[in-house]
Amino acid sequence: MTRVDAADVISDLSEVLYTSDQIAARVAELAVRIDADYAGRDILLVGVLNGAIMVVSDLQRAMKSHVEMDWMAISSYGSGTQSSGVVRILKDLGVDIEGRHVLVVEDIIDTGLTLSYLISNLTSRKPASLEIMTMFRKPGALRMEVPVKYVGFDIPNKFVVGYGLDYASRYRNLRDLAVLAPHVYS
Ligand code: XMP
Repeated sequence: MTRVDAADVISDLSEVLYTSDQIAARVAELAVRIDADYAGRDILLVGVLNGAIMVVSDLQRAMKSHVEMDWMAISSYGSGTQSSGVVRILKDLGVDIEGRHVLVVEDIIDTGLTLSYLISNLTSRKPASLEIMTMFRKPGALRMEVPVKYVGFDIPNKFVVGYGLDYASRYRNLRDLAVLAPHVYS
């Protein structure tokens, strides 16, 4: 079986921030907290495509609660490393979330722009509750009013890849989280 670890693409990376084992341990901790917080309630996990595919699949398998899953796809970045500032829904939810306990699962929050848009969009659909989990968060997000209940790791303000995060559709299947070397995108 082949798999991609940081060592396989080391010349494209400047630093490994978290190994796959560290990420798995943190996901397991968050799963325990979420299970406890939602005891007795059914959760609808809303994954934000494509980046959140890894965290949603790992999180739901680490949880004991009954979970349902749905997905939204949102564009904010194109293929570069800077937010375009324009948020568009490319794929909407397949289910009605009115009266549901919704937990949005994000891969990473950077400026917080995408999440602010998502929160106001989903709030208008009248869920019973709406909380946010993100696997990674950059310091920029702290300057915006984005109420994130569950955070995997706060990371430096650098462009990162792996664990679902890509650059120009590459490195998503890298199992660790690493800083992309500037020579790859400059
Ligand atoms: P904002 O700025 O709206 O960004 O909070 C959220 C979305 O931007 C993408 N993003 C990244 N993707 N490495 C990536 O591969 C990064 O360092 C990075 N920072 C932001 C991501 O899609 C996220 O959902």
